[in-house]
Amino acid sequence: MLSAPTRIEVSAGAHDSTIWIGDGIASGLAGLLDEHRVGPRRFIVSNPKVWKLHGSRFAGVGDGDPILLSDGERFKNLQAVSRIYDALIRGGADRGSAIIAVGGGVIGDTAGFAAATFLRGITLVHVPTTLLAQVDSSIGGKTGVNHTLGKNLIGAFHQPRLVVVDPGFLNTLPRREFRSGLYEVVKYGAIASRELFERLAAHTKQVFARDAGILLPSIIDSCRIKADVVTKDEREGGLRRILNFGHTVGHALESVTRYRRFRHGEAIAYGMLAAADVAMRRGVLAHADREALAALIKALGALPPINDLPTGEILDAVRRDKKVVNGRLHFVLATAIGTTTTVDDVTESELRDVLAGLGLKD
Ligand SMILES: NC(=O)c1ccc[n+]([C@@H]2O[C@H](COP(=O)([O-])OP(=O)(O)OC[C@H]3O[C@@H](n4cnc5c(N)ncnc54)[C@H](O)[C@@H]3O)[C@@H](O)[C@H]2O)c1
Ligand SMILES: [Zn+2]
Repeated sequence: MLSAPTRIEVSAGAHDSTIWIGDGIASGLAGLLDEHRVGPRRFIVSNPKVWKLHGSRFAGVGDGDPILLSDGERFKNLQAVSRIYDALIRGGADRGSAIIAVGGGVIGDTAGFAAATFLRGITLVHVPTTLLAQVDSSIGGKTGVNHTLGKNLIGAFHQPRLVVVDPGFLNTLPRREFRSGLYEVVKYGAIASRELFERLAAHTKQVFARDAGILLPSIIDSCRIKADVVTKDEREGGLRRILNFGHTVGHALESVTRYRRFRHGEAIAYGMLAAADVAMRRGVLAHADREALAALIKALGALPPINDLPTGEILDAVRRDKKVVNGRLHFVLATAIGTTTTVDDVTESELRDVLAGLGLKD
């Protein structure tokens, strides 16, 4: 049975976005675009894998052929953006045209950056097809690409007019990609909703079966949490930092392994455990809550190993991270499942102990 779609508003800066979430909702995309006054010239950006699996659902939506970019994080670069500009110019795009990004976070970030910059900004619509993109990257207006010297170094804020979240796309998503997104859902539970956290913990099997009865409310809760935070703080002045729970150590793990070993969410899973451990050692997080987080992460499956990674290299990577100020580290700590606090005085020796406890090499 299909339930009525859920509508969430995000107001950030001068531009508001609307998120529509519903099982099967992508079939009504053309109608939603009209309803939200997305101009008649609609350029779809996707990749061959996603298009082969789901392109038939977009019949009649786009203007001409879709712009298909090579699949993969290594193609999230200015060359891909340039290919989008070429296609837009050749297709006669103007200020009233729109880009419809159909894919995971890589397509969303790349197409989003093209939309942010072409003619100083044209309308952007996200149709996210990975769990990570549905609950995270399509919401909040961050767009951008990688530089050979670093990830996400080039970017712009550009709020999408519309985000259309259809969990039906997830049926074809490989299990590892699905899990990668789930850790971000766990993060939302850990920072803002014990109910969401407990739903995942109690129904892990249904989650993996992609049972809409469990998955849909979990996606809705996650989108609401991110939308709320972004509405209150578009540019990471303060509140938006709570979304970085688990990301200090997570980013360090990703960068030390050159983004090859972990899917983003897997690194964040370790990062959340590290943040929980720092909090527990400081006495601000109960042992039972730390254990609940560890148990849920464990229930979601095995993570890539970390026992060959030297603690010193992770600490170096953390130090290089923008969150270090005067040798002291900004850190989002969980104080219970569903609440966090931000501190700015986590020391290296504290972090060293915690990383050793997680099993990193001395
Ligand atoms: N803008 C933001 O706020 C923000 C936030 C978090 C992450 N990100 C970015 O998002 C990117 C990661 O996104 P991702 O995890 O979605 O990775 P991704 O876009 O690379 O997608 C993962 C893989 O799944 C495939 N895929 C997508 N949808 C599918 C479907 N329905 N069925 C089968 N396969 C499908 C993709 O083609 C790709 O091979 C990173 O570049 C990261 O920097 C951005
Ligand atoms: Zn993340």
